[in-house]
Amino acid sequence: MTRRLFQPIALGPYTLAHRVAMAPLTRSRAGQPGDVPTAMNAEYYRQRASAALIISEATQISRQGQGYAWTPGIYSEQQVQAWREVSTAVHDAGGLIFLQLWHVGRVSHPSFQPDAGLPVAPSALPVPGKTFIVDENGNGVWGDVPVPRALETAEIAAIVEDYRKAARNALKAGMDGVEIHAGNGYLLDQFLNSNSNQRDDRYGGSVENRARFLLEVVAAVADEVGAERVGVRLTPMGRFMGMGDDTPQATFGYLVAALNQWNLAYLHLVEPAMVGTVKDEDFDPRWDAIIAQLRDTWNGVLILAGGYDAESAEQALNAGRADIIAFGRPFLANPDLPRRLHDGLALNTPDPTSFFGGDQRGYVDYPFHT
Ligand SMILES: Cc1cc2nc3c(=O)[nH]c(=O)nc-3n(C[C@H](O)[C@H](O)[C@H](O)COP(=O)(O)O)c2cc1C
Repeated sequence: MTRRLFQPIALGPYTLAHRVAMAPLTRSRAGQPGDVPTAMNAEYYRQRASAALIISEATQISRQGQGYAWTPGIYSEQQVQAWREVSTAVHDAGGLIFLQLWHVGRVSHPSFQPDAGLPVAPSALPVPGKTFIVDENGNGVWGDVPVPRALETAEIAAIVEDYRKAARNALKAGMDGVEIHAGNGYLLDQFLNSNSNQRDDRYGGSVENRARFLLEVVAAVADEVGAERVGVRLTPMGRFMGMGDDTPQATFGYLVAALNQWNLAYLHLVEPAMVGTVKDEDFDPRWDAIIAQLRDTWNGVLILAGGYDAESAEQALNAGRADIIAFGRPFLANPDLPRRLHDGLALNTPDPTSFFGGDQRGYVDYPFHT
């Protein structure tokens, strides 16, 4: 039987050899000072270059956009040069890599902000959660997130420009494209969802207004690097970081239809039953319908992520639910995941204690299958 997971597929200007992609995974191991990728980071990505497509860990587009300790940036010249080492390593090993562009919005802390100010958000509503900060001894600790400051309408254009510059930097760093992170409760998602956006300007209220910021970002980034090198990641009905929307079908239906106006490389959705990395067995049945609705609305390549294994991935492709499956934790623990899935080989088990921060352990020492 033909296995769809191992059929090639066109994505923007590229042809992927198969459909096992690597999902974006924050690992909090950027070099300091400066949040700059290191040789160890390049080695980690090089090991995983057999992915059909690597989507990098979320990478802040500005200092204001950072919310966690030791995540990499793509706004300084030093960061651009260092990401070049990563893209070169991946390309030399035959891989393809898109950089995920990130602004955390309210999920931040004054210690990351320019002038130690308040994190920014659509509205002055706190996130029900904590973020990972560095204490005075240089150790990572969980810190409370303050009530953010609502962005002035006039400030939004500058953030759109930060996305544009970050996309330009990513291409300068040799990346094959960029993915706009508009999910998981970060800035763009905070604008999309009604429970975190209580604005009364043209970026709040109606579905059209709440989607405006993301659509402006997509327009700027597509203009800068070409729509065919741009993907967008959404987590419709995701509940991570306190997200919630009154009319998710209308909100995400409108948004995905609007995204059709560009010939984007792909749309990337996370299964709505995922709350972060936890599978919510008790999910709202509408959550399944929304994926089908968005699949129907979207005219391009669709990537799905969230709790997949070889069998469920094959089923999803066969059912026409998606075109490509992105694997997060399985890829984290198995640098040679495509081969293992192809040959039915046993998988290494991911170790959650080394997901965020630390050294080479639990990072570049997961073994390849013999
Ligand atoms: C350690 C870790 C870090 C993650 N970092 C990101 C990230 O930077 N950007 C993002 O969009 N999703 C991130 N995610 C979510 C994953 O991309 C993926 O959607 C999730 O893990 C579910 O897929 P899986 O069941 O295959 O792991 C992260 C998940 C994990 C486990």
